[in-house]
Amino acid sequence: MANILAIGIATLDIINLVDDYPAEDSEVRALSQYQTRGGNATNTLTVLNQFDHACHWGGVLIDEPDTLAIVDDLAQSQINTDACVRLNDGKMPTSYITVNQQTGSRSIVHHRDCPEFDFADFKTIDLTRFDWVHFEGRNIDQTLLMLQHIKSHHPNLACSLEVEKPRANIERLFEYPSVLFFSQHYAHHHGFTNSESLLKSLPANTTATCTWGQDGAGGLTDDGQLIHSEAFPPSRVVDTLGAGDCFNAAMIHSLINHKDLTSALTFACQLAGQKCGQQGFDHLISHFEH
Ligand code: FRU
Repeated sequence: MANILAIGIATLDIINLVDDYPAEDSEVRALSQYQTRGGNATNTLTVLNQFDHACHWGGVLIDEPDTLAIVDDLAQSQINTDACVRLNDGKMPTSYITVNQQTGSRSIVHHRDCPEFDFADFKTIDLTRFDWVHFEGRNIDQTLLMLQHIKSHHPNLACSLEVEKPRANIERLFEYPSVLFFSQHYAHHHGFTNSESLLKSLPANTTATCTWGQDGAGGLTDDGQLIHSEAFPPSRVVDTLGAGDCFNAAMIHSLINHKDLTSALTFACQLAGQKCGQQGFDHLISHFEH
């Protein structure tokens, strides 16, 4: 069991399951609707909790009605919120998500009116308690200060960075974490047509992965070797929402347990595949030995 801190967001996800993705300006009925707590960092912690790690979230909670359900869900997932900042004004980030039953695709309209967790908040956390810190690649200037703080004050503390969305200056963060988790979306945005070409473009001594949907994922070891894992798609893709967050959790769990990058990458692809075959994250790891 490790003590893991993740910095990022928790959201309210309002999810409509539809028979087919709606055309613009059409009206369709949802097959079902449900609300749940989402957000990349907290989704990753939900899965890490299933591996029996002690999970802590650093983020922002707003005093408003939707927060009750979010906090309830975090408690159920045994995610500790002591490091969170609580504010009176604003609104919890909310995602309106359409899941297409036929493909499992998830289309997200995201709204936020919520300040970011910043370096001043981060500095109040006692980092000596943690074995691993995971960051969402957001709020770049402040996240840079957090990573620099870890490097100068806790140089042996392992950390990971999710690079999912292309954001201005996000590259400034890359030299600090122990491992970088790139998405296909980020790679596409920068003109890469496969995971290998993105990984090859990184500076020497970088450890990184890059997911590529049905083509699995690539990895780069710190001594410059490129590795690859196939994808492990379920017999029917039901729901891809949060598959990347599960991938990251499996990577973190494996690396904490000193697995090599090749077996970590394979396991991460297996867990992400398993997630695509089910709705939500419940009992995700029960299909695996860990
Ligand atoms: C899935 C997810 C959702 C959330 C959205 C935020 O990866 O974390 O739970 O609404 O992405 O970008």
